[in-house]
Amino acid sequence: MIRRSILLGTGSALPVRAVSNAELAQTVDTSDEWIVERTGIRNRYIAGEGETTASLAADAARQAIVAAGLTAQDIDLIILATATPDQTFPAAATKVQAALGIDDCVAFDVAAVCSGFLYAVTVADSMIRSGAANRALVIGAETFSRILDWQDRTTCVLFGDGAGAVVLGAEESADGKRGILAAKLHADGRHNQLLYVDGGPSTTQTVGKLRMRGQEVFRHAVVNLASVLREVMAIANLSTDEIDWLVPHQANARILDATARKLKLSPDRVVVTVDRHANTSAASVPLALDYAVRDGRIKPGDLVVLEAMGGGFTWGACVLRL
Ligand code: UT7
Repeated sequence: MIRRSILLGTGSALPVRAVSNAELAQTVDTSDEWIVERTGIRNRYIAGEGETTASLAADAARQAIVAAGLTAQDIDLIILATATPDQTFPAAATKVQAALGIDDCVAFDVAAVCSGFLYAVTVADSMIRSGAANRALVIGAETFSRILDWQDRTTCVLFGDGAGAVVLGAEESADGKRGILAAKLHADGRHNQLLYVDGGPSTTQTVGKLRMRGQEVFRHAVVNLASVLREVMAIANLSTDEIDWLVPHQANARILDATARKLKLSPDRVVVTVDRHANTSAASVPLALDYAVRDGRIKPGDLVVLEAMGGGFTWGACVLRL
């Protein structure tokens, strides 16, 4: 028998306040035209008072648990991917655990910025396949609005807040055709200074602000995303023609187009939510996945590829059959 991690349910949550490009242009030297043309972003959600990474994560998690037909007590593992936890410690995953009323489970955060959800899913999958967990809640949640330099137009227009969650469950079958079929992660720490936060507990004792050299990140993103996608398909022994849906990290519509072109994938098979959510870092892949599941595009039996690249650099991809 082959033991695999099956996608049982998805969920997502967004802050109440939506902020359009036009609204941003009232306080920053930018325009709707520039933002749409260069990034495809039209809207983002910004967390207000009382809305935090853990509160958004808990809301997304509740939805995913309901969609999976389970209750919170069925969960034995919570992995939360975030670069913007409520506190330096304890892990935001433990706040989610308490909010869900789970008495005992394994709960920890993963820090891989925009690739965080891919890292979290890969760890959860390993723990499920090894027998260390049976029902895992994997969440990507961020409040990047709180680490943005609102005077810097080259970064502050690009990001938004939100959360997405999935429930993975163990399943044993003779053919192993369903579930997570392959995952591949990478990191190259030499690129720290291209995308980073200029503060932290062990250096400045401040939270710091996000800094990015956008054009250089862009160039690396297209190359790395196309290459890790090919790599993960080869591990799964599948061809890119067999992909029903690509759910990529939502940083820039031009990165999505360029990656799809490089892979000769039809744009109709790429899930795009960057227009409405902007870049929500670790939340972007599970948010986009939840949207495409809920609007009926992604269906049981579909072959879905998730992929992301972000600060570190870190990047990764994962293939699953629903
Ligand atoms: O999530 C992690 C991964 N992150 C990414 O993948 C981000 C990757 N990078 C990008 O998406 C793009 O590089 C950006 C959207 C960040 C920038 O787009 P670009 O086409 O590379 O623009 P640029 O940085 O070359 O800037 C072009 C011009 C500059 O003016 P000059 O020097 O040509 O006069 C900028 O100052 O656009 C100017 N500019 C703006 N103008 C209006 C930069 N930001 C803005 C703005 N509004 N918000």
